[in-house]
Amino acid sequence: MAVSASRPAHPWPVRLCHWINVFAMVCMVMSGWGIYNASPLFGFTFPPAATLGGWLGGAIAWHLAVMWLLVANALVYLAWGTGRGHFRRRFFPLSPRAVWQDTRQALAFRLPHRLGQYNAVQKAMYLGVLLLGLLLVLSGLAIWKPVQLSGLVALFGGFGWARYVHFYAMSGIVLFVVIHVLMVLLVPKTLPAMITGGKEPNDE
Ligand code: HEM
Repeated sequence: MAVSASRPAHPWPVRLCHWINVFAMVCMVMSGWGIYNASPLFGFTFPPAATLGGWLGGAIAWHLAVMWLLVANALVYLAWGTGRGHFRRRFFPLSPRAVWQDTRQALAFRLPHRLGQYNAVQKAMYLGVLLLGLLLVLSGLAIWKPVQLSGLVALFGGFGWARYVHFYAMSGIVLFVVIHVLMVLLVPKTLPAMITGGKEPNDE
């Protein structure tokens, strides 16, 4: 009996967490840029139109409000993904050799895509962005509560370094999103499946 025929390519908890995360990330990055503009680390600032909150106080309010949504959503995703074996099934096995082979095929536009199955480049990128997210949250906590979390601040080499780590982790995530969205545009059939769930193709 072909009972697995209608199994969704993306289970609903993954889709829900993914789109909540997109909303939270956009708010966090834009409000973060607003906060950065008040005291830039480098010789540039972000265009006001790309920031959120209108002024420093507003940007901080957005950042500190949406961070709860971001972290709560991440914890639900991590708990569900670990408990249900989602990460084990979708992100592993993974080897540098497979990443190298799939990268070469992707660059030659010869990498096949099956809904609900990630190639090695995707697996590496998704695991990488999860680690960057962890770094982003930890460095953010260090900047937010430097006195209470002085041990964490010390781990980053001081408050100044924690700010740099926070900025670089944000940059890595923004770079991920640019490549991720480009990959989605190259294989557009993946997008509706991430909204409605789609159908995992039958293996046999
Ligand atoms: C408008 C922006 C975005 C679009 C259109 C988008 C679209 C998608 C699509 C279509 C997939 C499924 C890919 C496939 O089936 O091969 C996916 C998966 C994924 N996306 Fe996004 N995405 C966006 C933003 C983000 C952001 C901001 C993050 C994290 C910072 C993210 C992280 C992920 C992860 C981790 C997965 C794998 C989910 C899992 O299976 O557990 N995405 N995305």
